[in-house]
Amino acid sequence: MNKPKIVVTRKIPGPALELLKEHGETYVWDSEEEAIPYDILAHEMKDAAALFTNVSDRIDRAIIEGAPNLKVISTMAVGFDNIDIQAAGERGIPVGHTPGILTEATADLTFALLMATARRIVEGSEYVRSGQWQSWGPMLLTGQDIYGATLGIIGMGRIGEGVARRALGFEMKVLYHNRNRKPEAEEKWGVEYRGLDDLLRESDFVVLLAPGSAQNKHMLGEREFKLMKSNAVFINTSRGTNVDEEALYRALKNKEIWAAGLDVFAREPVDPDHPLLSLPNVTVLPHIGSASIATRENMAMTAAQNIVAGLKGKPLHFEVKQ
Ligand code: GLV
Repeated sequence: MNKPKIVVTRKIPGPALELLKEHGETYVWDSEEEAIPYDILAHEMKDAAALFTNVSDRIDRAIIEGAPNLKVISTMAVGFDNIDIQAAGERGIPVGHTPGILTEATADLTFALLMATARRIVEGSEYVRSGQWQSWGPMLLTGQDIYGATLGIIGMGRIGEGVARRALGFEMKVLYHNRNRKPEAEEKWGVEYRGLDDLLRESDFVVLLAPGSAQNKHMLGEREFKLMKSNAVFINTSRGTNVDEEALYRALKNKEIWAAGLDVFAREPVDPDHPLLSLPNVTVLPHIGSASIATRENMAMTAAQNIVAGLKGKPLHFEVKQ
């Protein structure tokens, strides 16, 4: 009997690939840098039984409907806004993802980006390397205090709680906004619920962790940036589409807010000529929230386990609700 074909859209850690190879014939787009071109993916999916994907692929209705033998999809990510979940649901194809596993790594990176942006770490490093450092200066590269400041978290899921826990070590006052209130988190970590506008008005740091979705598109735009404090530092480690980037650019350029740290962009990879990248008060990263070696290995293995379960017609380890 022919082994089922498993399409893997990127080079992945060895143990996860080994597991997939035990259960199918793998097609691997074997690049660490370049995402699989859409046309090649569509072609390879025509006879595929499983799809191992990631945040850089667009898995739309055409891809799903063009794969008559498809039994299971898994992404090695918590977010699945790049996958047409409805199209998969209509075909009864389960979609897996990897929540939980990446919580702490992503909370670490979020806090690292917050600190780097507030204290101008990247600017400082470039200042030294480029030979601009002449002498110690009383006003040189001064930033914002983190210790004791007010942090507003938008999107209080697992990663939001992880960031809140870290903030307590810095004696920050932590506010949050979420679709539903989280009485347990309030009790456990002392975080306080606010309506979105109040959170924006009161926070020195605003961290966006809401999932990417049609409802959340541009949830922060001109109006919201105008509500923030002029010393506010804005951090986005969720999805670029959640933010109106043109409004963010204007807010930063006109000093309506103080700085931003961005791990995500509406279009990735972001164009090096994007206006946001021209601003000194913006710290940027290439969507590496969960990128620790151990976490990425665990994510790949969990996604592979989702695929194996789906091929066997069993419930996935972590399945997106359809
Ligand atoms: C990364 O962005 C993820 O959703 O895991």
